[in-house]
Amino acid sequence: MNSIHFESIDSTNTYLKENYQTLDNFTFVSADLQTKGRGRNNRDWKSEKGDSLLFSLLIKEEALIDKYASLSIISAYSLLEVFKEYGLNDLSIKWPNDVYVSGKKILGILLEAVTIEKIECLIIGIGINVNQDKFIGEYNTTPTSLYLETHKTIDIDELKDKVYRQIEHNFNLVKQGRDFYDEIIKYDFLKDKEEYAIINNEKKKVKILGINKDYSLKIEVDNNIMNINSGEITFHV
Ligand code: BTN
Repeated sequence: MNSIHFESIDSTNTYLKENYQTLDNFTFVSADLQTKGRGRNNRDWKSEKGDSLLFSLLIKEEALIDKYASLSIISAYSLLEVFKEYGLNDLSIKWPNDVYVSGKKILGILLEAVTIEKIECLIIGIGINVNQDKFIGEYNTTPTSLYLETHKTIDIDELKDKVYRQIEHNFNLVKQGRDFYDEIIKYDFLKDKEEYAIINNEKKKVKILGINKDYSLKIEVDNNIMNINSGEITFHV
């Protein structure tokens, strides 16, 4: 494993954005604490020192960069497989890339691309709630942790190893043409739900029909069927 660990850093994603040129493909950067952890939709990602597994993975090879659209949801699926090893049930994937346990969010994924004319690299940043026994403050979605779900303190280094190996294994399959779609749709949390969402700056009630083969989301809004990509819709409004 090509890995770098920091006790404290602003953000493992930011670190890779600033240093990708000198680092190898599949470098795994982790930290006990992030002082400026970033989430999707320009939100902050806050965590207490040592309670979470915070890491980012650098992807530089073209065979994977080409599969850009599928990598964040396949990462979510890989983590779901690891959580099964810890005995977790009632797992689901909330499009585009959250993993839920009994309807509560256990991790977040932020995939970023560095583009200069073409995509130079992808950075897949993942924050897993591991040993938190409570969450204070306001959250859009009720959070949970591996500790809260298993009632066991988890060895973060062991988890890190399992996560790295599972993602590496699945990404190697992706390079050989596997897409994981049939597996992923079994865990589609939003399918058949009705939710309020912001689309094109407007608040709308949408019916979610499910994840499409290209990992866009099929929704029904104002009696029209639409396919949307992540970034074009925000739930929790
Ligand atoms: C989300 O909003 O759900 C995505 C959160 C992603 C957080 C992780 S923690 C490791 C990596 N570094 C960051 O600054 N963000 C990601």
